[in-house]
Amino acid sequence: MPDYQTFDHDVLVVGAGGAGLRAAIAASAAGAKVGLVCKSLLGKAHTVMAEGGVAAALANVDDRDSWRVHFADTMRGGQYLNNWRMAELHAREAPDRVRELEAWGALFDRTPDGRILQRNFGGHKYPRLAHVGDRTGLEMIRTLQDHAVYQGIDVHMECTLVRLLTDGGRVAGALGYDRERGRFRLFRCRAIVLATGGIGRAYSITSNSWEYTGDGQALAYGAGAALQDMEFVQFHPTGMIWPPSVRGILVTEGVRGEGGVLLNRQGKRFMFDDIPENYRNQTADNEEEGWRYTQGDKSARRPPELLTRDHVARSILREVREGRGSPHGGVFLDIAWIKRRLPQAREHIIKKLPSMYHQFKQLADIDITTTPMEVGPTTHYVMGGIRVDGDTQRSTLPGLFAAGECAAGLHGANRLGGNSLSDLLVFGKRAGEFAAAFAREHAGVTVDSGQVEDAVRCALAPFERGAGADGRGPYQVQQDLQTMMQELVGIVRTEPEMARALDGIARLAEQARQVGVAGNREYNPGWHTALDLPNLLTISEAVTRAAIERRESRGGHFREDFPEKDPTWGKFNIVVRRGSDGRMQLSREPIPPLPAELAAIIEEQK
Ligand code: FUM
Repeated sequence: MPDYQTFDHDVLVVGAGGAGLRAAIAASAAGAKVGLVCKSLLGKAHTVMAEGGVAAALANVDDRDSWRVHFADTMRGGQYLNNWRMAELHAREAPDRVRELEAWGALFDRTPDGRILQRNFGGHKYPRLAHVGDRTGLEMIRTLQDHAVYQGIDVHMECTLVRLLTDGGRVAGALGYDRERGRFRLFRCRAIVLATGGIGRAYSITSNSWEYTGDGQALAYGAGAALQDMEFVQFHPTGMIWPPSVRGILVTEGVRGEGGVLLNRQGKRFMFDDIPENYRNQTADNEEEGWRYTQGDKSARRPPELLTRDHVARSILREVREGRGSPHGGVFLDIAWIKRRLPQAREHIIKKLPSMYHQFKQLADIDITTTPMEVGPTTHYVMGGIRVDGDTQRSTLPGLFAAGECAAGLHGANRLGGNSLSDLLVFGKRAGEFAAAFAREHAGVTVDSGQVEDAVRCALAPFERGAGADGRGPYQVQQDLQTMMQELVGIVRTEPEMARALDGIARLAEQARQVGVAGNREYNPGWHTALDLPNLLTISEAVTRAAIERRESRGGHFREDFPEKDPTWGKFNIVVRRGSDGRMQLSREPIPPLPAELAAIIEEQK
């Protein structure tokens, strides 16, 4: 029998970003014994990269806002592929979740009369993003972390899971290893909530840090759960592009929310040339009106920089491809221009965007109060993920739940900025509660030692092989995959390129199976990377296959060979499962019809 430590919990939450913390708090409050596993240190999560705010229809800045408008905006942003039940629950419950967070100690910026201040963001009709400067995700994590620790939740830091364990088609536990010592940990539990975040590390340019290798999605898939909408990857329009060492780091949409504009090499505000028909009546067509909107004039329309992210990212790419880009292959994001309009512009920028000010000063030696930033798209988020039930967040595998970025549904084909933070609060809570209820009602699960032994054997195999005979180590395989996904399955896609990507993934998967590592199990990053590779390859294959299957362009998925939206495709989610032969299988699952009252809201908001 392999050597491992055993831990018993009712509910195991995997991932300690906002969704995992909120799920752990909810499960613990429901009386469950909760374990919380995080791949790195507690508090280090991609949640902090949602800088500009949390979307909730509090109507503090514009009293025309309501859950109905938020619901309609989310559905339109997601191009109607959304799980409408999730979009409804999210819009209805987000305001309470934000107030609850405030009651737990989160500090927000304030309106002059002391209410939570809200700012503009792309695709949101009214100023809706409750924020703390440009550090909103960080403040949320801080608050949730304090609350969770106070509740006495067992935290397993720097621990990576390698396998979900099942018993008779039900979740029974998970096997992981602690990164510091390389010792195995067996978690026995009755329910698991996956909240592991995204897949950004499958691409070379990303806002995601090293942890985001699609672990939750791949673990769920490997255990038999279904994934959906994997073709929809969000490229945030504004990441840093220079110097090369910081390429991909996020530049918050809050910059545009505060009046920042996008300029090409000729100094032209190119977004005015590219306003899609369905947003035309809401979008300003001149600088004066856009500025008035930023300043809260309710009769003005929003500036074109606040169109949805998929659209803005493609417009930037077009400028670059057509030779109008900035010197390092992006465009300019200029917030300094507001000096022409605002006497205290410098103080205003530093107050509203303190992290951006320091980020550019320290990393690029640029003062954003005087000089435009160079920016370009960066892989930021995946709309697809584990297929879940809208109310309960249960996956298709009994006992397995998912919340936050690793779950699919809420955002459809494209996520609106700020909806990730409200997503993780609303559905983290729901997942935790329903997982606790499941654990209460389903006792008597046992862990099969054969599954544990097999998982340990596979995890140790890279040591058995030793450093690769042909010299290919885990980092090289990972880097080749990232470069290939960036080039062939990026913002603009075609079938021949994606077919090449599939061949490449198969070749790299073969290399990953042969990867060997040297040294021992004590903090061995080469070994850790070797164990991340199967996850990265699985989710890259799922993204690519689903993207080949969807022969249309919608939201974050743009096909140069099928550039139009096709109404037939608007009726399906693409679902990915592991077949009994171990191969990936795709199916088209019809989206349930929208109830009349929700359809009426969408109609009314048009
Ligand atoms: O631009 C941002 O601050 C990111 C927000 C988000 O992804 O929700």
